[in-house]
Amino acid sequence: MAAASRLISRLALVTGGGSGIGRAVCQRFASEGASVVVADISEDSANETLGSLSHDLKGQAHMAAVVDVSSKQSLDKLVTSIQAHYFQPPSVCVNAAGITQDDFLLRMEEEQFDRVIQVNLKGSFLVTQAVAQALVACGAPKGSIITVGSIVGKVGNIGQANYASSKAGVEGLTRTAAKELSRFGIRCNCVLPGFILTPMTDKVPEKVITKMTSLVPMGRMGEPAEVADVCAFLASDDSRYVTGISIEVTGGLFIG
Ligand SMILES: NC(=O)c1ccc[n+]([C@@H]2O[C@H](COP(=O)([O-])OP(=O)(O)OC[C@H]3O[C@@H](n4cnc5c(N)ncnc54)[C@H](O)[C@@H]3O)[C@@H](O)[C@H]2O)c1
Repeated sequence: MAAASRLISRLALVTGGGSGIGRAVCQRFASEGASVVVADISEDSANETLGSLSHDLKGQAHMAAVVDVSSKQSLDKLVTSIQAHYFQPPSVCVNAAGITQDDFLLRMEEEQFDRVIQVNLKGSFLVTQAVAQALVACGAPKGSIITVGSIVGKVGNIGQANYASSKAGVEGLTRTAAKELSRFGIRCNCVLPGFILTPMTDKVPEKVITKMTSLVPMGRMGEPAEVADVCAFLASDDSRYVTGISIEVTGGLFIG
């Protein structure tokens, strides 16, 4: 199937859809024909993304929603409102909500560790569980759940004990979900971005960016759209025999 129409008649939930990688995923999925639920803790950002989505293809209807992925209650509310709106659960889901709270291990407060784990790891668990439960309950024939890890979950990163731990956990979660959910036709895969130009990396000091970029074999930071392209492949039937894997989108950073 031509790339531009691979997601026609799919309903996709994208958390963290209000910014950066999540926003690029929403835009890419919409351009391929999906109806997109843009979910974010920031209502304004979600609405801004919503306003940028194309809706020229058959039967497309997008919506924005406020959610805190670290709260089960908030997620239950979201899934209920999606089902009320579309009369079906999302068959595609991208867990792009994420945060950083960097500090050296010797100085990191317990709260900084807990909050990053709650949003990045527990949030991915809660979203994956809620979407999978809804798909299984309605007997949907297939689903594709995509988590967003990070290359630093594999190699570690100075100042990111909390973040690297959360992202390593996301990979373990994804592989386990893939094993448990395959029999329901639900595939689960992870993308591992390297250094991508988004508001998250805007916070990183210039000299760190310059140093990291010098380590990238392709010699530059990535664009959110380059991560979104890989998510579209994993969401579509082009990857129908692919589950439980992690795809690095890093320009070659930290090739083993
Ligand atoms: N930018 C990078 O270089 C990079 C590298 C590796 C992995 N990642 C991962 O990619 C994902 C997207 O990152 P980004 O760079 O686009 O960041 P971003 O800060 O631009 O976007 C993150 C979005 O998540 C939302 N969010 C935060 N907490 C939330 C919560 N509790 N519930 C719902 N939404 C919440 C924010 O409001 C924001 O819109 C994250 O999981 C991040 O860890 C990013």
